[in-house]
Amino acid sequence: MGRIYLNDNWGFTEEFSEELLATGDYAGALTQVRIPHTCKELPYNYFDESQYQMLSGYRRVLFAQKEWEGKSIILTFEGVGHQCELYLNGQLLYMHACGYTAFSVDIAEYLIYGEDNYLVLKVDSRENLNVPPFGFVIDYMTYGGVYRDVYLEVKEHCHITDVFVKTDNIAEDNHCEITCDITLSQGVLDALHTSEADNWSIISYLSRVNTDICPVNEADIWKYPQKIGEKPLLNAQSEHIELHFSIENVQKWDEESPFLYTIRHELCKGTTTMDTYSRRIGFRTVEFKAEGFFLNGKKVKIRGLNRHQSYPYVGYAMPESMQRLDADILKKELGCNAVRTSHYPQSHYFVERCDELGLLVFMEFPGWQHIGDEAWKEQACKNVSDMIVQFRNHPSIMIWGVRINESQDDDAFYEKTNAIAHALDDSRQTGGVRNFKNSHLLEDVYTYNEFVHDGIKPGCEPKKKVTSDMKKGYLITEYNGHMYPTKAFDWEEKRLEHALRHVRVLDAVGKEEDIAGSFGWCMFDYNTHKDFGSGDRICYHGVMDMFRNPKLAASVYASQQEKDVVLEVSSSMDIGEHPATNLGSVYIFTNADSVRMYKNEHFIKEYYSKDSGYKGLKRGPILIDDFIGDMLVTNEHFKPKQAKIIADAMNYIAVHGYQKFPPHIIFNAIKCIVQYRMKPDELVGLYTKYVGNWGETATVYRFEAIKDGKVVKNLLKEPMHTISLDVKQSHTTLMEGKSYDVAAIRIRSVDENGNITPFFQEPIMIETEGVVELIGPDVISLKGGMGGFYVKSIGEIGKAKVYLKNAQLKTVTLDFAVAKEKQDD
Ligand code: GAL
Repeated sequence: MGRIYLNDNWGFTEEFSEELLATGDYAGALTQVRIPHTCKELPYNYFDESQYQMLSGYRRVLFAQKEWEGKSIILTFEGVGHQCELYLNGQLLYMHACGYTAFSVDIAEYLIYGEDNYLVLKVDSRENLNVPPFGFVIDYMTYGGVYRDVYLEVKEHCHITDVFVKTDNIAEDNHCEITCDITLSQGVLDALHTSEADNWSIISYLSRVNTDICPVNEADIWKYPQKIGEKPLLNAQSEHIELHFSIENVQKWDEESPFLYTIRHELCKGTTTMDTYSRRIGFRTVEFKAEGFFLNGKKVKIRGLNRHQSYPYVGYAMPESMQRLDADILKKELGCNAVRTSHYPQSHYFVERCDELGLLVFMEFPGWQHIGDEAWKEQACKNVSDMIVQFRNHPSIMIWGVRINESQDDDAFYEKTNAIAHALDDSRQTGGVRNFKNSHLLEDVYTYNEFVHDGIKPGCEPKKKVTSDMKKGYLITEYNGHMYPTKAFDWEEKRLEHALRHVRVLDAVGKEEDIAGSFGWCMFDYNTHKDFGSGDRICYHGVMDMFRNPKLAASVYASQQEKDVVLEVSSSMDIGEHPATNLGSVYIFTNADSVRMYKNEHFIKEYYSKDSGYKGLKRGPILIDDFIGDMLVTNEHFKPKQAKIIADAMNYIAVHGYQKFPPHIIFNAIKCIVQYRMKPDELVGLYTKYVGNWGETATVYRFEAIKDGKVVKNLLKEPMHTISLDVKQSHTTLMEGKSYDVAAIRIRSVDENGNITPFFQEPIMIETEGVVELIGPDVISLKGGMGGFYVKSIGEIGKAKVYLKNAQLKTVTLDFAVAKEKQDD
């Protein structure tokens, strides 16, 4: 039997009271809620973090079926923020003190079978708890509630409780020696002490998983489960047994082709299967060496972003589809090959999608700068162990972070966390994120938050200036972030500088052969505590906004991938947005082979990838350094030599402004006046006409992206005439299954050419009709021309419509269907 999800039918109160523990009908008032649940829905910004801090109560009736009697009934909570007590029929069964790891309890002996039982969870989301990450300030909100799935598993007493599959012993010819560490239940051990001991065995099967990225090849021998071994349990002495299998011709998991398999172990007594235990796995090797990071023996530069697991309004409480969407955005929209789950283990749904996409994961245990007392540290050690046991089968996880993010050296503590990690998983290395140089390196990799780049200083420092051990790997785990917070509604120069800071760091890291790679801070803006952010409880550190709409900096990452054509120009080309109407530096962000620029349909210049000054990046941005082309020859009839001299000067001013001229420009200007007898006014006139544009009709710019000789994308920049909403629906069919489903709606106001209109900050009224409801307010205002909202299914199957209205704009109608999903594991 698979999982029985218990996400529905919970009663919730913001004030826990002992009365909740009584069995029978509850006399007080409870709000009906579904899991994932946040203990407090919050505004978008300008709110106080004390709002979600409370001692709340969750209560649910659980009918224990008669057939369950005599079995193990395992109840799991995937995530409860942050400390909780589990009661069944008034009796305290368990306490869990980590908001980011799961806990499971066998409730069999406490259930009354054939009757209603009463589950109660007392949830403490106050931040004075003496557990990580609490104890001092934190730059992110920690939220509260039962925010990940709750489910039951009904098993025979004799079952497999855990399997850790190690797949990294792969020979060059793709022969793999798999090791499976299997944990057996006490029931099995007891059975092995009876006269029937020789009846027990484990039969193992392997099959390929079909994902949208790597569909199973019809001819593939692994399409159907293959029996890979059968092992009698007769001699099992302890709960842990190790099985070994030799597999030929495995298809490796990597960034491009993340092949996944399922390994299934059947626990058998004679010919009866007592339990089956399946895990999705991938075959790959991951290793940080002194000279970089190696995936399957091939050097790969890590290019990732940090991700928090938060969303507007509901904090951490988002279901499967939203978790998966973030992984898709990172890989497909942002072109990343890695993500750091800052600063805690995140949803399995997110990591499973990383497995499917070939997105490498840096996962770390919870914490932020502060180290607490001995009790606190003990909990931190438990968190390391829970994290590793719960996540170690994910092939995407390449390293464990076993140091409180940015904490000081504490050798005794970190010797422990490293030892725990290595004991539970000898197939992965450890890192520990610090923000200072030459710290005690008890981990396998020096992982460092590198905030040296301030716009002027280099993008990064060489490894030897940072690490305490050149023989070990070195990875940059954060850069930028607070060094240059940027809002989607900031002015254009600021948004460009934000993007260029990401470029400069990636460029510098790209040139340092022995830096394994880097993770930018961060994927999207996030709500934060009063001690951080812009005063409105938001850190505007993202390359996307809170709804995952791209800022310009997103195109730095997007243009590194090859699947979708990226063609972005950093400026709206509206001269009035700039001091003295000077557009300044304008960059093309693209992954095309070349980009042709036209002004009023006159060809100016073709720019090539190699024209980027950022050689450390595969696709660095390209500075537009020519606004004139041959126009002085064709339109003004200057001789080519003279035209070039004039154009050089004018292009220089276009990019750098009038403040300071280098000698060659001064020399050329003098030459124009003396040799070509031009009057200064004539030069100014030409500048105004071809570059400055002040007092002239606005210019129309067109860009063509060329790939393999063909035009693959066009971009037109001209004054807007009409505005409309460009609306992206994450999906149109919401699935009612394990729980409710949510769709993300991302909105950008755009002109008729699809260019963002960044200063359209107007309200949008959202109306829903049918079987969905809105998360958050029904009137939102766009910020930087962008915004978003979420719709949620309400337990009913059918159709729904959502309308986006604004007096100035054409109403947008979105169609949704809500369907029922089959429950399976
Ligand atoms: C780091 C920290 C992150 C975030 C970032 C902002 O020090 O690890 O959580 O606060 O700074 O740049």
